[in-house]
Amino acid sequence: MRMLFMGPPGAGKGTQAALVADHFSVVHLSTGDIFRASVAAGTELGVTAKRYMDAGEYVPDSVTNAMVRARLGESDVIRGFLLDGYPRTVDQVAELDDILTDLGTKLDGVVVLQVDLEELITRLLERARTSGRTDDTEDVIRHRQQVYAEQTAPLLALYTERGLVFEVDGRGTVDEVAERIWGAIAPTADES
Ligand code: AP5
Repeated sequence: MRMLFMGPPGAGKGTQAALVADHFSVVHLSTGDIFRASVAAGTELGVTAKRYMDAGEYVPDSVTNAMVRARLGESDVIRGFLLDGYPRTVDQVAELDDILTDLGTKLDGVVVLQVDLEELITRLLERARTSGRTDDTEDVIRHRQQVYAEQTAPLLALYTERGLVFEVDGRGTVDEVAERIWGAIAPTADES
């Protein structure tokens, strides 16, 4: 299984990708999580990433693409992977296409979670009370939504043209959304 999880900040990409990855015993690869781990470890990558993350901006494509290429070259992704939060730009889509060609494989699908803006803001403000994420302030949360709308939402048309998109209503409980995802991807997952 090789899938992307896409959707605006707070849509539940991380929550749902973790459940699906666990079920299929494939790697859950979240670029946001890798950046946060790098920040915590104080690596050069972390120092670079933190400047952009704290502002709610995307980390430069050159940095992000190199990181994903390296990670997808590791042996544990052979069984499959779920990419959560990548690609987010036109350049990242092109890089992922190249990586997949180099690996001799292709995507099975793109799960797109849809949640309205006010619910997204509510969820992230709620998380802000406990997460310690420096990008979960109201201003940055709203800016992240704007960056997503401008740079990432237009990419969905491209994956739709390729016939890969499963649009899923991301509202309701975590279990309800998981059920919908399962219903959408089960036929594809059975084939892979
Ligand atoms: P990233 O960590 O990916 O953050 P994000 O895209 O802003 O997404 P979130 O983690 O906020 O939300 P999510 O959709 O994963 O939802 P989640 O399951 O967590 O990226 C952070 C930053 O890293 C970016 O801003 C950028 O700077 C950088 N970055 C990352 N990838 C990059 C890339 N490809 N290129 C360049 N830069 C990149 O859920 C959110 C909250 O809602 C949680 O509290 C959760 O418990 C709750 N929740 C989930 N589902 C439900 C539900 N059904 N009902 C109620 N609450 C729910």
